Amino acid sequence: MTDLPANTDKVIIQISDVHVTAEGMLHDFVDSLANLKWILSAVELGGAPPDLLLFTGDLADKGEAEAYERFRSTVEPYAQRMGVPVMYIPGNHDTRTPFREHLLGWAANEDVIDQVLWCDGLRVIGLDSTVPGSHHGELDDAQLAFLQDQLATPAPLGTIVAIHHPPIPGPSEFLNQLTLREPERLARVIEGTDVRMLLAGHTHHASAGVLGGVPVWVATASAYQMDVLATATRAMRGIPGSAFTRIDVVRGMAVATHIPVIVAERAVYEVDFATIRRFIAEGASADEVESAFASTDGG
Ligand SMILES: [Fe+2]
Ligand SMILES: [Fe+2]
Repeated sequence: MTDLPANTDKVIIQISDVHVTAEGMLHDFVDSLANLKWILSAVELGGAPPDLLLFTGDLADKGEAEAYERFRSTVEPYAQRMGVPVMYIPGNHDTRTPFREHLLGWAANEDVIDQVLWCDGLRVIGLDSTVPGSHHGELDDAQLAFLQDQLATPAPLGTIVAIHHPPIPGPSEFLNQLTLREPERLARVIEGTDVRMLLAGHTHHASAGVLGGVPVWVATASAYQMDVLATATRAMRGIPGSAFTRIDVVRGMAVATHIPVIVAERAVYEVDFATIRRFIAEGASADEVESAFASTDGG
């Protein structure tokens, strides 16, 4: 572990749009399950378990029971070893009944999947914006009332709201037809509350904006990326690539850090905190510092 103090109250790892298949590859050559395993391994190797693993929808590509079994049996061992809770939120590619039964272990029915999970003083509210049979998102009156009721009592560290469909527009007018309908209704509920950040997914590209005075982070996908420029102008174009997000709740704010999956042979440099602390405490020559940063080959 580190020997420098952590400055963060809570850490959430957000993984979105995993699109796991029941078997085989996604779109013939994308190994979406391998991407998920790579991210979970990276988080575990990071050495400091997060406070929550948060999955923001499109967990299965076609919503089959087998895909959810594959998903759960992949995630659970990592979560158990790290001692980290998991929140699964559905997306438009998911199917509620098998999602409930095979991922959550809930009653097998088509009821909405809204959830509240506490990480000590941090409240995380997951909302189900899916509309069975459609790709756009909606929140009905009962869901907005549920959210309003939750937010009536502030949480010690504030609240994170997570939802699959972005409540903000993006660069693609085509994708803007498939986001959350009537986002102003959600804006009215979260405005002036303790919601620190609203997290979404769905577009397969990263975006940031504001809704009702609350920062909005739209995470990209772990499965594959949207070619933003092509999709804004001429064609919906998916391209290989994978990324996830680290959310730090720190000093009363939430900060989203985009983490691309980069499979590299070696690090550019890696100098441990003990060495840096010694440099600071005892002073170090420019040569010493330079050699420490130059000589690491990633082991
Ligand atoms: Fe997706
Ligand atoms: Fe989606």
